[in-house]
Amino acid sequence: MEKLIIEGGHRLHGSISIHGAKNSVLPILAATLLVDGVSEIDNCPRLSDVDASVRILQHLGCDVTAEYPMIAVHPGGTCRTDIPDHLMREMRSSIIFLGALIARYGEAHLSYPGGCELGPRPIDLHLSALRKMGVHIDEKHGHLDCYIEKELHGSDISLSFPSVGATENILLAAVTAKGKTVIRNAAREPEIQDLCHYLNACGANIVRAGEGVLEIEGVPHLHGTSHRILPDRIEAATYMTAAAVTGGTLLLKNIDPPHLAPAVSLLEEAGCHIRVLDGELLIDAPARIRRMRLVHTTPYPGFPTDAAAPFLAAACIASGTSVFIETIFDNRYGYVGELTRFGAHIKAEGRMAVVEGVPSLSGAAVKCTDLRGGAALVIAALAAEGESEITEIQHIFRGYEALSDTLARVGAHIRLEQ
Ligand code: UD1
Repeated sequence: MEKLIIEGGHRLHGSISIHGAKNSVLPILAATLLVDGVSEIDNCPRLSDVDASVRILQHLGCDVTAEYPMIAVHPGGTCRTDIPDHLMREMRSSIIFLGALIARYGEAHLSYPGGCELGPRPIDLHLSALRKMGVHIDEKHGHLDCYIEKELHGSDISLSFPSVGATENILLAAVTAKGKTVIRNAAREPEIQDLCHYLNACGANIVRAGEGVLEIEGVPHLHGTSHRILPDRIEAATYMTAAAVTGGTLLLKNIDPPHLAPAVSLLEEAGCHIRVLDGELLIDAPARIRRMRLVHTTPYPGFPTDAAAPFLAAACIASGTSVFIETIFDNRYGYVGELTRFGAHIKAEGRMAVVEGVPSLSGAAVKCTDLRGGAALVIAALAAEGESEITEIQHIFRGYEALSDTLARVGAHIRLEQ
């Protein structure tokens, strides 16, 4: 079983190149199923979730060449319409293959997706939208058998919440459906925009018709294209907190500055000096950061729920008390109990966590509970005095490529042990 050993208290200094966004590459790989021809997807991070998507595409009969950071997908002629349970359980994004399979083959047979345990993660919005578009769905014991009754047709869909996954599934079903689809209260995350750019480059007709409104005119075919995945704003935000807790100076390269605005303003409030350059960001942290007052997660363009865990870990050593309010998921504080092993003072109840900063943390043996919670433990260990051991790190590999090598290159005392 692999583990990370981190000796904390070392100042980080140097530059880090941010990899492509996990939450962008996963739906785009699912979307390659719709295309007649080859999709060349560049800037793909080497992550276990990306590998799981590649295995799903191969299982479905696609010809996939993964030469990271480039992945080329050719759907070819052979195709299955089922995804086995063990592949569905590997990640939440496996559910995006539902829209792609329905659009391409008119049927899909799969089970409920896996992913991080963050409380209930229903897919009712995905299913009701697809039903409105003419898909018949039989749900039995967590298994879904879906097929098109007469035709897949456009529809006017209003989402009660701007769900990222539901917006992606509707987009994939709509791009080649008959007629026009309108998605109201669609998710506005940059990763959704990236998916739209890819699909439009393949010949789709998607336009943004106001805030949170997407209009999709179905087209008969999509053709192959080359596409570069946008930078991972959550990876970048995580490394910003690594600088913040070590009094470090980091230059982050290959970023999209506007996507990091909420992270930048919070860390500036905490006393970090941040200079945003063209495609780069320089963060220079004080010896000890100040509290962040209120961190309130909301859909984009608000503060991203996925960045809250590393920010909460940083707040543990800030001077003063910070308050975190999670509005997206019911149960996102599973990692907080592990953080207290470092000596952090945190009270978490329901969707709120109150973090009373302490002058120092001490090394501890801790276990990752989920992907971003795992990143939070790394941030706390970088700040802590003495040695920490972090286990169950397979969660971290789902979202951070070569995290230990990356941090070691900028001065962290970190090693991966078997
Ligand atoms: C995506 C991201 C995840 C991020 C989240 C919110 C990927 C691979 N994952 O997850 O990293 O944390 O967006 O930014 O892109 N909901 C329903 N019914 C549904 C769908 C969602 O009630 O049918 C609820 C969920 O339970 C959750 C909220 O809506 O409380 C947000 O979910 P959603 O935006 O769909 O997140 P994901 O697509 O799962």
